[in-house]
Amino acid sequence: MQATFFGRRVVLAITSAVTMGVATAGSLMAAGFTAEQAESGQTEYAQQCAQCHGVRLEGTEAPGLLGQDVMGNWDTAGGLYDFISVAMPPAQPGQLGEDAYLNIVAFIMRENGAQAGDEPMVADEEKLAAISLVAETKDGAAALAQANQETTIESGDTNVPQAFTWGKELPQFKQ
Ligand code: HEC
Repeated sequence: MQATFFGRRVVLAITSAVTMGVATAGSLMAAGFTAEQAESGQTEYAQQCAQCHGVRLEGTEAPGLLGQDVMGNWDTAGGLYDFISVAMPPAQPGQLGEDAYLNIVAFIMRENGAQAGDEPMVADEEKLAAISLVAETKDGAAALAQANQETTIESGDTNVPQAFTWGKELPQFKQ
């Protein structure tokens, strides 16, 4: 399973290296989705994905979906769409319908800092493969790095109850 995904990522990376040359030559990237799509995607994500990936995509039960590393993993909107439209959510993989998956990709991109444009995202393999996640979300990366840092500091608090539990065993030692 892992090996298959990995192989696909390599193939996608090669494809997009070719298409990216064309895309960057144009005006500074129409993001490839509309504000309405991202908005609908937010609702669908909240219902279908948030319980595992976190309301703010921060990753709770499952990996977080923010940051240039994750974007680089999927490389293009097509790579992300292909994966989630086949594999997610785990209880009904691929069952949400084309529009829902497109909207969710738009929402994930927006949350990663991509700007909405006039052209809706459509389920066209070539068009999706021409949308570079890394390039589109570049501006959002710095702000996200900061947000992630804040999350890390907060989660440090969870160590306290654990230490308290260990402390409770100490009296047995003394007997
Ligand atoms: C029941 C929990 C659950 C739900 C609901 C769920 N996921 Fe996942 N998701 C996972 C787990 C667990 C993984 C890690 C799988 C692996 O590494 O093999 C994952 C992996 C992913 C990844 C790959 C993350 C990476 O690191 O590259 C993406 C993207 C993703 N999910 C998107 C979604 C989307 C979009 C939805 C909603 C349509 C969704 N997931 C719903 C549990 C869930």
